[in-house]
Amino acid sequence: MKDLAGKTAVVTGAASGMGLAFATRFAAEGMKVVLSDVEEPPLMEAVETLRATGAEVLGVVTDVADAAAVQSLADQTMEAFGQVNIVCNNAGVAGSMSGGALSVADWKWVIDVNLFGVIHGHASFLPLIQEHGDGHIINTASVLGHFPAHSAYAASKWAVVGITEGLFNQLREEESTVGVSCLCPGWVNTRINESARNRPEWAAEPALDEPDEEAEMRRALLAEVLASGMQPDEVAGLVVDAVLNNKFWIFTDLDMIASLEPRFQAILENRNPDPVGIGAFLDPDD
Ligand SMILES: NC(=O)c1ccc[n+]([C@@H]2O[C@H](COP(=O)([O-])OP(=O)(O)OC[C@H]3O[C@@H](n4cnc5c(N)ncnc54)[C@H](O)[C@@H]3O)[C@@H](O)[C@H]2O)c1
Repeated sequence: MKDLAGKTAVVTGAASGMGLAFATRFAAEGMKVVLSDVEEPPLMEAVETLRATGAEVLGVVTDVADAAAVQSLADQTMEAFGQVNIVCNNAGVAGSMSGGALSVADWKWVIDVNLFGVIHGHASFLPLIQEHGDGHIINTASVLGHFPAHSAYAASKWAVVGITEGLFNQLREEESTVGVSCLCPGWVNTRINESARNRPEWAAEPALDEPDEEAEMRRALLAEVLASGMQPDEVAGLVVDAVLNNKFWIFTDLDMIASLEPRFQAILENRNPDPVGIGAFLDPDD
């Protein structure tokens, strides 16, 4: 895309954190913005705040794990603004912090939101953007979509990285003018560590007889590194730059990615992997 003003952006997970920053930045660029989120009160508050700046804004409560809800989001966007140009498939949740075996329900919740949310976004919005070709899809993955980990979150983000790169290649083969970016943030100062606020009942964590002290420590450490992380509006600046300059990768912390070199080396040499992990980047004073 060469310009943004007057065009329409849809952002999922727009009531908080990065999604809210993207919506705010798009509105400041003169775009019409559709904010969607599963949490109604903060969503409506964000809509009112942006509307008060004079922006053309629509709020749609949407659970991205629900294909019909995402289709309805696309229908309501078309009804309100007649066109879609940018879609940020951004809504996401972090799974359980418990050190014990992850419940299958936890895997399902995280993959339903983080991966199927993106898949539903592609299914409902890609055809609408391809119709005119002046558009861009930004999928929020994570640096954790590049680090091996036995977790639902890593599984969902690895898949998002893979399908996003696949979509980028496919559209280039088709000589499409639609852009695609894969956002892989490191630590960003948001409420992602409070994802349990949106955990459905069917995926509730089992009640423990004793407090899970390790999980509490992990939660506290994560809260600290997130608070010391990049501000969401800075990430919004990187997203706008990627759209206008057609950049696929959006990394907020290239040191994290550089630390993966031994992993790629081991693959090239067909050796067993050495442990690489995100642990080295869990120091809030770094
Ligand atoms: N904060 C970080 O350090 C970081 C790093 C890498 C990737 N991410 C990813 O960034 C994205 C945005 O998260 P954030 O960090 O801004 O956290 P956040 O919790 O502040 O915002 C996430 C938003 O998604 C919404 N959401 C949750 N489940 C939903 C559902 N089923 N349907 C629709 N909306 C739903 C939440 O209500 C919330 O408003 C997520 O995909 C997350 O995995 C975050």
